[in-house]
Parts: sequence; structure tokens; C-alpha cells
Amino acid sequence: MDVGPDRHEWKGHMKNSENSIVSPFDKVVDRTKTESMKWIYPREVLKVQDAIPMWVADMDFEAPPAVVEALRRRADHGVFGYPLVPPSLYAAAMSWLERRHGWAVERSWIAVTPGIVAALNYCVPALTKPGDGIIIQTPVYHPFYYAIENHGRRVVRSPLRFDGRRYEMDLDDLERKIEAPGQLLILCSPHNPVGRVWRGEELERLGRIAVERELLVISDEIHHDLVYGGHHHQVFAALSPDVAARTVTCIAPSKTFNIPGLSTAAVIASNPDLLQKIENEAERAGYDLGQVFGIVGFEAAYAHGEPWLDALLPYLEANVDFIETFVAGRIPGIRFVRPEGTYLALLDCRNLGIEPGALNDFFLHKAGIYFSDGAMFGKELEGFVRINFGCPRSLLREALERIERAVKSR
Ligand SMILES: Cc1ncc(COP(=O)(O)O)c(C=O)c1O
Repeated sequence: MDVGPDRHEWKGHMKNSENSIVSPFDKVVDRTKTESMKWIYPREVLKVQDAIPMWVADMDFEAPPAVVEALRRRADHGVFGYPLVPPSLYAAAMSWLERRHGWAVERSWIAVTPGIVAALNYCVPALTKPGDGIIIQTPVYHPFYYAIENHGRRVVRSPLRFDGRRYEMDLDDLERKIEAPGQLLILCSPHNPVGRVWRGEELERLGRIAVERELLVISDEIHHDLVYGGHHHQVFAALSPDVAARTVTCIAPSKTFNIPGLSTAAVIASNPDLLQKIENEAERAGYDLGQVFGIVGFEAAYAHGEPWLDALLPYLEANVDFIETFVAGRIPGIRFVRPEGTYLALLDCRNLGIEPGALNDFFLHKAGIYFSDGAMFGKELEGFVRINFGCPRSLLREALERIERAVKSR
């Protein structure tokens, strides 16, 4: 498929009106006149007109120019019939996974899906029976709970351990929670919302448990490209052939390149039986067709978005440093849980003295900031909120200043 090459060479810097060099990620794009859920919901549904949204996981940056250009070219064609996923899309994904993650994937292992949440909702019925217990490491991305409960399965929680600074897996607890061979574990790696990029040793031990106790694993690796200095994402299925044989991996360019509204992701399994079961269930649910713009955006992002991502990562990491310094120095009562990856992080607000149930309202109505309430990810996060810092630094600064004023004037 013709998705490139990038006619707009990506430049890691640009000039502002005063002729100084700034990052392209400093550009503030007005999203309020679009259909953006992130911006419309707090302002128009919750009626806080000037709210800064820092909740749902998309970023306020323009997608890579190569993606925008490919979509524009496709729109210019003018005919938008049912698509068939082209071989070039698979090739772009395989090349990306090999280049960025050292993971050699074959074309026959990949099934395109409209999204990871959709995929979870057909993988669960494909791989388990009603009443089965499915293990998740809580707190965790809330649709994991829904994908289990929507289909009459049981959530089996294996809580992460928190020492006040960072989260760890509790693998002894996880082993104790295993009920039967063939049980499903849904792994979040890197982990949303705690921001951990699991170390190789942690995943190796989990992999050994999975093989010895015959677990099936869905490894949601949607945040795998967003990893900060000193950390390395280990593909779970790449640990060993035995681990690969029982693992279904979910990936997408959506978080990496800020194109989640294009609704196109991929499920990867080297075990043909697992993949067949999943594809049958996807077809039963009516998810067997792709989406024209999603296909074009997916391929263009993986084929041409790399320089953009390489510029984004230091920008996001500088946002992490900015929040850490600001919160530690200027916002008493809040602790920032520094993330190792993702553009999401926890603010531990338990020392603010605000009832957990009133916390998100306090931030929305007193500071004009809309966060994700920690409790939605699990009861472990009562008293926390999740901040989405995938935005220009100027907006981040304004948000933190608003929080500082709200906290100090209580
Ligand atoms: C861990 C995780 N999985 C899946 C998703 C959503 O994926 P999709 O938009 O492909 O359904 C998110 C979005 O925040 C996420 O954090």
C-alpha cells in the first residue's frame, strides 16, 4: 500500500514567533472544536468550561506528519469501500517489532483488530469458560475487569505491592491464586496505571510460573514503545518458545503515535490453535473487517513514524522530570509516582486530607483539572489520581500551577 515516503521530513525542532528554537511538541493544538472525548467530556458534559483534561489516554500532539500525509492521500482518493488488510501492513508491523523490540514475528501469527479492548472482549470468551477465574494484577487498566465480568467470568486479583515509591509484582501471591491448569492471566506490560516497565527477571519468573502451572497469558503490550531512559521493554512471548506457546500479545501503534481514534491494533500468537480460537470468536462478534483509515494510519506509523517517536520520548521524559520537580517542591500533600514508561502516572494524594470519593471532584471543581480517579483501576488506588502528561509543557505547567493554587488555598 502507498503510505509514504514521508514528504514532510520530520524535524526534531522548529522556530516559534520569536524565532527561538522550540520542540514541535510544544505546539498547542486546539482540540475543543473536534470530537475529542478527552476535551469535550469535562467541558460540555461535566460543564467545567475551562477544564484541562488529563484523563483518557490520548496525547494532545499531532500524529507524525507521515501519518497525516498518508491519511490525506487516502482521503483524496474518495472511495472508501470495505478493506482487506494489505501484506504491506503486516510487513510494517513485523519490521517494527524486529527493529524496536528484537522480536521476530511471522505474518501468520498476526490478526488485525479494531482495538485491544475489543480484542480482550473476544479473547476472554475464546480462551475461557463461563465461571472461570481470570487473574489480573491490580490496580490495573479498568477494561480488564469489564472484559472478564462482561462475559460471566470471575476477576481473581493479585495485587501489586507498593512501597510508597514504586510497584512490584507479588508473584508468590499470584502463584497462590492459580486455581487450575489452563487458567488465564491478563498481564499489562508496561503497566497502566502504575507506570512500571517490568524487568526481565520479573517477567522471566512469571514466564516460569506460566509454563509450570500451565497458565494462558494475554500480554497487553500497547505501551511497549513508550519507555524511558534506563528501562527496557521485554516482550513476554519472546522469553522462550514455551512461554510463546501459551501467550497472546496485544500491540498497537495507537499509544505510540497518538492515533487511538483510528481504531486499529493487532493480536499476535505463535500458537495457531490459540489464534484460531481467537479469530473464530472475533468473527462471531462481527470484528472480521478492518477500517480504511485505521489500516492506512497503522502502516504509515510503523513504516515512517520512527524519527517522530525518537523525538517524542525525550520530550515526554522531560515532562516526567518537570512534574517530579514541581510536585516535590511546590505541592504539599501530593507525591508523584515516577513512571518508567507510558505517558500516564499516579499522583498519591492520600496526605491531602480529602476523602477519596471527593478527590476527583476537588481537582475538577477547585483546580479545573480532570484526572482519572485512581479508584477506577482498583480499590488499592483510593486516594490517588492518574495524570496524563502527554501534552505540551505549557499546558502541563498551567495544570500544575492550578493544582498548587487549589491545594494551598484549601
Ligand atoms: C493497557 C491498555 N490496553 C488497551 C488500551 C486501549 O486500547 P484500544 O484503544 O486499542 O482499545 C489502553 C488505553 O489506554 C491501555 O492503557
